[in-house]
Amino acid sequence: MNNELIKALKEIETPFYFYDINLLNETLSVVKEAAEKRNFHVHYAYKANYNDVLLQTIKKFGFGADCVSGNEIKKAIEIGVAASKITFAGVGKTEKEIIFALNNEIFAFNVESIEELIVIGELAAKLQLKANIALRINPNVDAQTHHYITTGLDENKFGILPSNIQTCISLVKSNPFLELQGIHFHIGSQILEMNVFKSLCVKVNEWNTWFEERGIYLKTINVGGGLGVDYKNPDTNAITDFETYFAIFEKFLEVRPNQEVHFELGRSLVAQCGSLITSVQYVKSGIKKRFAIVDAGMTELIRPALYQAYHKIEKLSTQALSTSMMYDVVGPICESSDTFAKEIELPELSRGDYLAIRSAGAYGEVMASRYNLRDAIKSYFKMDSTPILATGW
Ligand code: LLP
Repeated sequence: MNNELIKALKEIETPFYFYDINLLNETLSVVKEAAEKRNFHVHYAYKANYNDVLLQTIKKFGFGADCVSGNEIKKAIEIGVAASKITFAGVGKTEKEIIFALNNEIFAFNVESIEELIVIGELAAKLQLKANIALRINPNVDAQTHHYITTGLDENKFGILPSNIQTCISLVKSNPFLELQGIHFHIGSQILEMNVFKSLCVKVNEWNTWFEERGIYLKTINVGGGLGVDYKNPDTNAITDFETYFAIFEKFLEVRPNQEVHFELGRSLVAQCGSLITSVQYVKSGIKKRFAIVDAGMTELIRPALYQAYHKIEKLSTQALSTSMMYDVVGPICESSDTFAKEIELPELSRGDYLAIRSAGAYGEVMASRYNLRDAIKSYFKMDSTPILATGW
């Protein structure tokens, strides 16, 4: 991407998000092929990135939408995703959001508690509309990832406790406006250890049998998302190994006849196509350190500050790269956590040099804030026909 981008940089004010839509298209083709040959259904998790250009690209591949707010459902409908492909998850769905989802006859509510099921049941009855229910079960499987993005353990706020499932079934049976469509799981994010998904399959199978033994046929099994990406090698490993991932579910899930398997993938679809482009404002020498102070901060990409997340940082240059030096790459925000990387080796930097903070397509732009009254972050795209295309969103 370097040369084209560097030429365009003269016209564009930093910082901004840069998305390679060609890579996104390639990634989506791989996902589609690997999923379709197994008859798996993929819903893209809107929370990972709801930039319109990305959403339109993803929609073209026919994926559904996994939403966690009324606004995300509204966005999915505006983008043109069929309501019959929209799922709605989240522990705190409000009445307004539930009513909106009911009126739009979405595919499923992923229900996270008895209390929520009661409210959905009451609202559905009042509106005389059917609510399709998938019970989100907390399977107590350790995702072996950062504790802030682990969701499937007993201690997490997500999902229904196994001991409460029977009550949920009774509630559904007593309300003709509730339809038990299936079960839902999501154990965490940025999962790279494939055995974790194997363990998830074992739990899902136990639950599938449990329902069957009680005479309940489940139409859908939703195993959530969570597949990780290679933040260390965004070029050599630009597309995650979807084939291995789906093959695990194909091999270990005991799917009953006519049962559908659904996925909610976010990060693995969009992370590698995005970079945060920033320029060096000052190079400041400390007593023991050299700081490269850039014009992007935790306000544009909060992952390093919030989860100590690693993002590869590269100097963008058309020249042969000079001798390297050690830098802390930091932002302008008045917080010590506003640091993108500590003690990393980069070619010598000076004021005006451009850096790319890689693998920032997921949970980057969407988690941006206006803290310190920063400008809203902009995004630019590389597509086949247009080398660099600016757009608002
Ligand atoms: N389904 C549910 C119910 C979820 O909670 C999530 C993500 C997904 C699907 C999509 O997971 P993915 O395939 O993207 O791993 N902001 C954090 C990640 C939070 C993930 C929240 N849930 C980060 O920057 O790492």
